Amino acid sequence: MSEQTLSNLMHEDRRFEPPADLAADANVTEEAYARADADREAFWAEAAERLEWGRKWDQVLDWSNPPFAKWFVGGTINASVNCVDRHVAAGNGDKVALHWVGEPDDDTRDITYSQLKDEVSRAANALTELGVRKGDRVAIYMPMIPEVVVAMLACARLGAPHTVVFGGFSADALASRITDCEARVVITSDGGYRRGAASALKPAVDEAVEKTGDLVRNVLVVRRTGQDVEWHGREEGGRDVWWHDIVDSASAEHEPELHDSEHPLYVMYTSGTTGKPKGILHTTGGYLTGTSFTHWEVFDLKPETDVYWCTADVGWVTGHSYMVYGPLANGATQVMYEGTPEKGRWWKIVQDYKVTIFYTAPTAIRTFMKQGREIPDGYDMSSLRLLGSVGEPINPEAYVWYREVIGGDRCPVVDTWWQTETGQIMISPLPGVTAGKPGSAMKALPGIAADVVDDDAKSVGNGNGGYLVLKEPWPAMLRTLWGDDERFKETYWSRWPGLYFAGDGAKLDDDGDIWLLGRVDDVMNVSGHRLSTTEIESALVSHPKVAEAAVVGAADETTGQAVCAFVILRDSAGDGGEDIVEELRRHVAKEIGAIAKPRQIMVVPELPKTRSGKIMRRLLKDVAEHREVGDVTTLADSTVMDLIKSKETSAP
Ligand code: WT7
Repeated sequence: MSEQTLSNLMHEDRRFEPPADLAADANVTEEAYARADADREAFWAEAAERLEWGRKWDQVLDWSNPPFAKWFVGGTINASVNCVDRHVAAGNGDKVALHWVGEPDDDTRDITYSQLKDEVSRAANALTELGVRKGDRVAIYMPMIPEVVVAMLACARLGAPHTVVFGGFSADALASRITDCEARVVITSDGGYRRGAASALKPAVDEAVEKTGDLVRNVLVVRRTGQDVEWHGREEGGRDVWWHDIVDSASAEHEPELHDSEHPLYVMYTSGTTGKPKGILHTTGGYLTGTSFTHWEVFDLKPETDVYWCTADVGWVTGHSYMVYGPLANGATQVMYEGTPEKGRWWKIVQDYKVTIFYTAPTAIRTFMKQGREIPDGYDMSSLRLLGSVGEPINPEAYVWYREVIGGDRCPVVDTWWQTETGQIMISPLPGVTAGKPGSAMKALPGIAADVVDDDAKSVGNGNGGYLVLKEPWPAMLRTLWGDDERFKETYWSRWPGLYFAGDGAKLDDDGDIWLLGRVDDVMNVSGHRLSTTEIESALVSHPKVAEAAVVGAADETTGQAVCAFVILRDSAGDGGEDIVEELRRHVAKEIGAIAKPRQIMVVPELPKTRSGKIMRRLLKDVAEHREVGDVTTLADSTVMDLIKSKETSAP
C-alpha cells in the first residue's frame, strides 16, 4: 500500500458501533483489557482453566531463557480429549461437531461429537498398529474431508506431532517437508474434488515418498473419489494401507495418555525470506489455551446456539487454529466445506445450515464483489450475526461491502491480524466492545502486547508508521523452528533484543489504532497465502533455460498481491521459444504448487542491481505496478531500467 492510499485510508471516518444485543451479552467486555494489563499471567491462567487438564501446572510462564517460552509448566493435557471426549462426557455427544459439505451437490455428512470421538479413537488405534509412537512425526496431505480432522486429532491423541501439507503443494514441496521433520507415516487420500472433477493426490505422495529414500514406512490412504491409484500393498511388502481396511475395523476404545503441556502438537511449514520453508513448532497446552480462548472471545462464540464456519483450508494455520483446535475445544458446531468459492454455493450453505459466524479472507470477498451483489442477495442469510476477516489487510471498500451485503448491515466485522507463528489471533476488534473502523485491525487483544516501533525500537507514537512488534510472550506463540533454534532467534528476535519482529509494517492512527501495511521483508501475500520471493526465484533458476530471476509481489485488485517475475534467459536458450512464459509458469507450479505460479513473467536482458550486486526489487515493483520508476542512482548501471521498460512497452 502506498503512503498516499494509506493517508486516505486513515481519514476514513466511518465507525460501526457493536450491535446492542451482542454488546449486552458479550463473552468478553471492556474490563478484560485492564484485568489483563494488571496481571497478564493470571489472565492467561484463567483462560487455561477453560480446558481440561490432567495435572495442573506449577508455573504459568517460564520466560527465564528467552526467546524460548514454556507455558503452563508441569501441567499435563491431551488436545484430542479436550476437542472430543470432554464434550461427550459433558452430555453433548449428540451435538453436531461438523456439518460436512462435499463439493459434489448433496454429498453431505453430519458428524456428532460422539461419532468424532469414536472415529478419532479408531484412527489412534490404527496408527498405533502402524507403529506410530509418541513423538513420531506424521505428514498429512489431504483434501477437506472429515478424515483430515480425524487424522489430526488422532495424532494429537498419541502425541505424534502432525505436519499438514496443503493439498495444492507439489510433490517436491511435500518431499522437502517430510524430509525436514522426518515423517515416517503419510496420511492422504486417492484424490479430492475440485471444480466438479476428481483430482488425484496419491501420485504426488508416491513421487514425494520416492524422493525421500526409505524414510516413509507407511502411506495411509482414505478412499474419497474412488479413482484408480497405483498401489504398493503390504501383502507384497509395500507401504500402502487403505484407511477403511485398518481404521474401520479398529476398536473405538482408546485410552488417551496425558502429555506434557510443552509436548509438540504440530509443525506447520511456512515461507520465510530464504528459499527454505520454516517449520513452525506449536506445542500443546499454551496453543490450545490461546486458540480456544480467542475463538470464544473474538467470535463471541455461544456453543449452544451458534453455527460457525471458517472457510480456510486445513492446510494453513487458520484451518488448524480456527477450524480444528479452537472451535472443537470449545464444543462448537461448525460447517466444513470441501470445495473452493463458487458463485452462489457459499451463500446457499449459509442459508441451509443457518450459519451465524462466518470467517473468511479479503481475497474471497473481493472476488464476490466483482461478481456482483445479485448473487448473495438471492439467499437468506439472516442467520449471520458476526463476520471475520483474516490473512491480509482488508481494504475499506471490501469491509463495507462485506458488512452490508453479506452481513445485512447488522453484523460486526472483526479484522483479525495474526500469523502462522503467533498461532492465535493477536490484534482484532472485540465484537461487543469496539466501534470498528473499516480497514483497521484496531487493538491488541487483552493479554497481548503489541506496538509499532522505528529502526531503534522506539515506539513511534500515534499518527506514525513503523514496524509491528510483540513485546510480551503469549500462550500460542511458536516455540522454535523445527530443528533450528538459531534460525528461530535470528529470524524473529535478533533485530531488537526482547522484541518479536513480525515482519509487517504498521501505522498507529491518532486514536492509537493499528493499521497493517503488509510485509516489509521478501515475503509476498497472495490471496492470503504466504509466499517467498526467494523460493520462487530458486524455482525459476532451477529451469535449464533460466540464468537469473527476480520476483516481486505487485498490487493486485483481487488477490492483494500477485507474483511477478523477471527472468534473464541463458544464451543457449536463444529467445526461449514462443511458449517460454507458459513453460516457466508450469515449472514453478511443478516445483512449488499452483498457488506460486507467477501472474506475469517478463523476459529481460538485465536486472537492476546495486554496486554490491543486490537486486533492487523496489524498482521492479514499480514496473510491475506500472508506476514511474523510482530513484535509480544507486544502480551499478542506471540504463538497465530503460532496457527493462522498453521490454514492457513492446510486450503484447
Ligand atoms: C501474514 C501472516 C493468520 C493466518 C493467515 C495468514 C498478513 C494476516 C492480516 C490482517 C493485515 C494480515 C500479515 C502477516 N496478515 N492477517 N488481518 N491484516 N495483514 O498467516 O501465512 O502466517 O501470514 O499475513 O502480513 O504477517 P500467514
